[in-house]
Amino acid sequence: MKTITLDLSNVLSAAVGGNGIEENDFRLTLGLISEYYGKLLMKPYPFMTLPSTRFQFDEMQALSEKASKMNIRNLVILGIGGSSLGTQTIFDALLHPFHNLEERFRGGKPRYFILDNIDPHKMTAVLETVLPEIDRTYLVVISKSGETPETISQFMLFNEVMKRSGDFKDRMVLITDMEKGLLNKVAQKEGYTVLNLPPGIGGRFSVLTPVGLFPSALMGINVKKMSDGAAGMAAHIVRYDADENMAFVLAAVLYLTYKNGKPIHVMMPYCERLAAFADWFRQLEAESLGKKGQGPAPTKSVGVTDQHSQLQLYVDGPRDKCIVLLYSSAGEVPIPDSFDYCEDVAYLANKDMKDLFHAEFQGTRLSLTESGTPNISLTLDEVSDYNLGALFYLFEMVITFMGHLMSVNAFDQPGVEQGKIYTKAMMGKKGLEKEREHTDEFLSRPPRQVVF
Ligand code: PA5
Repeated sequence: MKTITLDLSNVLSAAVGGNGIEENDFRLTLGLISEYYGKLLMKPYPFMTLPSTRFQFDEMQALSEKASKMNIRNLVILGIGGSSLGTQTIFDALLHPFHNLEERFRGGKPRYFILDNIDPHKMTAVLETVLPEIDRTYLVVISKSGETPETISQFMLFNEVMKRSGDFKDRMVLITDMEKGLLNKVAQKEGYTVLNLPPGIGGRFSVLTPVGLFPSALMGINVKKMSDGAAGMAAHIVRYDADENMAFVLAAVLYLTYKNGKPIHVMMPYCERLAAFADWFRQLEAESLGKKGQGPAPTKSVGVTDQHSQLQLYVDGPRDKCIVLLYSSAGEVPIPDSFDYCEDVAYLANKDMKDLFHAEFQGTRLSLTESGTPNISLTLDEVSDYNLGALFYLFEMVITFMGHLMSVNAFDQPGVEQGKIYTKAMMGKKGLEKEREHTDEFLSRPPRQVVF
């Protein structure tokens, strides 16, 4: 069965000359990954065993079955970074693009609102939307640490709002660490339901835990199949020799292009449903590898839209990028022969939008390759729960391998933590008085401004 295909021909020096990867370096790097993976299998990172442990699947199923009988109209999800990007990716990929717009597109499932940003404008708009139906609103609060100010402040607000309806505790689930953090404390005191992340799994590696799977289960997405996809990918990685191993090959390619002066990794889905996957990847790569003065800069583009925005830069600008094309096409939309008197558009008449889409994808590959811009293509035979699970697992492994090759800890995020501390200090958190002095000093520095 072929579900995902990786084509690396256009990243090799044979295709893109000096900008490409040399076969020798490629082999050497595959060897290093292989050796590391052998050791890793003796002591895997906790995220690696998720597809087989199926952590809290029974609890998730029981809760989602209960919810499906409640006639829920709105699902509000609070969480940021690794606590929201996976869910957003899954929903974009597997739900109807206009899910929230019409009942017929939702098939009885609730509308959803993912509140990662605390921008008051959006917060107010979501509140305006759900308040009239607060007694039919389900709240999922996700924070691994249980301490993130954005999520906690939103929770403080929604906690009060939810209390306005009678049986609100049945419509609230908190997802957090097994022991630590404020969410556990609150849940214990108030009697709220809790799901967990297994120990040792950080936000951006948590999509295949209740963090990404519980909201998905509430929307009727088959989370078992998604986990099967991850398990399938895990089995592939164990089974295949280095040069047929998708995770090894992808990690080697991304690492070597980075080392070869291509510090920008552009994730470019040719599939609108996978656009949010590029956001998920952007966080995974940036937060995991951006350390000790190193790290590729991941960016996002969407085909075909960004052919008319970014492609000029990729083809004709500095050769500092490796483009990861993610292709999947579905459905057919015939193009009628509407202007049969116009010779110029005859090439489009009676064709299918799907073929045009494919031609644009191939055209981009060719122009990138001819211009000496290394590019790889991952083709999915369909955007399914299974393939999505496989893709998540694949990239989590790729980033783990790259962390090893770059000698950085892919699993911490000191830069993010520092920002959280300054925010809390500015807001007057007890115990952060020293940090507050520092932030006050920063804010009192004389500005140099230009005002319109
Ligand atoms: O990957 C990570 O660890 C971070 O991006 C976190 O997901 C993000 O900072 C949110 O943290 P938390 O889930 O603890 O609220």
